[in-house]
Amino acid sequence: MRAPSPHPILPLAPDFEPTHFRQALSRFATGVTVITTFGPGAAKGATLSSQFVGITASSFNSVSLTPPLVLWSLGQRASSLPLFHAGTHYVVNVLAADQADLCQRFATGQGDRFANTPYTLGQAGLPILDGALAWFECHNRSRYEEGDHVIFVGEVERCGFTQDSAPLVYQNSQFSTTHPLP
Ligand SMILES: Cc1cc2nc3c(=O)[nH]c(=O)nc-3n(C[C@H](O)[C@H](O)[C@H](O)COP(=O)(O)O)c2cc1C
Repeated sequence: MRAPSPHPILPLAPDFEPTHFRQALSRFATGVTVITTFGPGAAKGATLSSQFVGITASSFNSVSLTPPLVLWSLGQRASSLPLFHAGTHYVVNVLAADQADLCQRFATGQGDRFANTPYTLGQAGLPILDGALAWFECHNRSRYEEGDHVIFVGEVERCGFTQDSAPLVYQNSQFSTTHPLP
């Protein structure tokens, strides 16, 4: 058995400002997703656009191939947090380069964000956005509170993708897309 360390590792106060941290993080280029689930009181079988909620998230990433797992995180202050926390399923929609308007709508839009958003309902009964580069229909497998966010791990039950569309890329507060290096 290992003896307890005479020098326990204690968390240090950061020696940088939150703004500096945000700026450093913003250099990391990400894709952009819109994650959809059921609104208050709605469940599978819902058909009205107002019965769904959706949020923009760039924190999406892969976790595991077997079983197929993905993750993303949501701020503790998001109004949709209780719905994502309690729901059994959500759909992660990966946006294409021509969907920057959806990114803004699902980050800031008031009221029904799906009203002018073309979508079809997947097998879980949740919106899959038309034109999405890829989509992942997830069982809400686990949640971890960390700092001011909650990390969601989803078990992918179904997924799909388009072959030739370009991705929407977010970096340093700007949108772009990918170009192969020469
Ligand atoms: C490009 C972009 C990426 C974002 N990524 C995240 C994210 O990963 N997690 C998060 O909590 N909010 C993220 N946001 C902010 C949320 O989309 C926004 O706060 C959202 O509307 C959730 O709050 P609500 O549930 O109150 O609507 C992002 C916003 C933008 C524009």
